[in-house]
Amino acid sequence: MADDLLHARPKFNVGQSSLSVGPIAYGCWRFAGTEVKPAQAKIEAALACGMTLIDTADIYGKGTPGGFGSAEELLGDVLKAQPGLRYDMVLASKGGIWPDTPYNSSKPYLMAACEKSLKRLKTETIDLYQIHRPDLLTPMEEVAEALSALRSQGKIREAGVSNFTPSQFRALQAHMDFPLASQQPEFSALELSPIFDGTLDQCQEFGALALAWSPLGGGRLMTGQANTAEDQERLDNTIKALDVIAEKNNTDRAAAALAFTMVHPAGVIPIIGTQTPARIKEAANAAKVKMSRSDWYDVIQASMGAKLP
Ligand SMILES: NC(=O)c1ccc[n+]([C@@H]2O[C@H](COP(=O)([O-])OP(=O)(O)OC[C@H]3O[C@@H](n4cnc5c(N)ncnc54)[C@H](OP(=O)(O)O)[C@@H]3O)[C@@H](O)[C@H]2O)c1
Repeated sequence: MADDLLHARPKFNVGQSSLSVGPIAYGCWRFAGTEVKPAQAKIEAALACGMTLIDTADIYGKGTPGGFGSAEELLGDVLKAQPGLRYDMVLASKGGIWPDTPYNSSKPYLMAACEKSLKRLKTETIDLYQIHRPDLLTPMEEVAEALSALRSQGKIREAGVSNFTPSQFRALQAHMDFPLASQQPEFSALELSPIFDGTLDQCQEFGALALAWSPLGGGRLMTGQANTAEDQERLDNTIKALDVIAEKNNTDRAAAALAFTMVHPAGVIPIIGTQTPARIKEAANAAKVKMSRSDWYDVIQASMGAKLP
């Protein structure tokens, strides 16, 4: 039988809500500094390419001048300079990490954190508010109460989670009076855990949007530099398998690597993080990439360093 071609979906709903977003998202983790014009150029480049979900978090900016909150502040300054952009985006942010505690998802903490995010972002509502990492000490019932209260006060439209295990997601959902709209794991050709640990299955089970963070392995898939010497061979082999897909599509490796995440049946939206508007534009080519089943499985097996049984 001929090998059928896999490709990405063109549009997505944010969970079971009516909010709809493009197939690739733009993330602001690496957004730094206070200069509005270059920041605005990145957001405009993303929106122009249909990357309508813009993802940030209150903690982004930690370690840069200005620190915690500065990436949200910069995005808020962009929205102040060009208020019309707010209507073109689905704005996603996160709370729940408080350095160096490190996590707090108690109701009082989340209510206050979200309020501060709204102020920094200079907006009335966050479209998708995500718990950044699970707080092991707050009962899920209380986290659900906080998210419900934020939603009924109009401060957030939808709620989601990030880096939750499938059982943590299920435990939180059991106490919610509305469906969790998203889950955000690390997922790329180098980080395959969500495929095998139930995370992406659960997104299909609950109809939650699957957002993949660091879909280029934080740049490693492009630079070819592994984090450790032991991981270099695995990276080299994964890159080779991605380059086969890129060549067949007459595109670059970034587009092939993003498409690798996007063709998964959970309907994954990769959140790209480049700070270069030209690379944002190039990344949009991922939506056009097609690959065979065997191309996709070749990437998986190269990354695993083993054949599937
Ligand atoms: N929920 C979480 O816990 C969590 C954690 C981490 C990230 N995130 C989200 O995921 C987003 C993306 O993460 P990420 O920045 O690590 O994603 P990524 O897209 O995997 O990596 C981006 C990095 O790759 C580099 N790069 C090198 N060559 C490139 C090329 N040809 N094309 C594109 N990029 C290239 C970029 O450098 P240049 O800027 O020089 O292009 C940038 O440093 C974040 O902004 C954030 O929204 C979430």
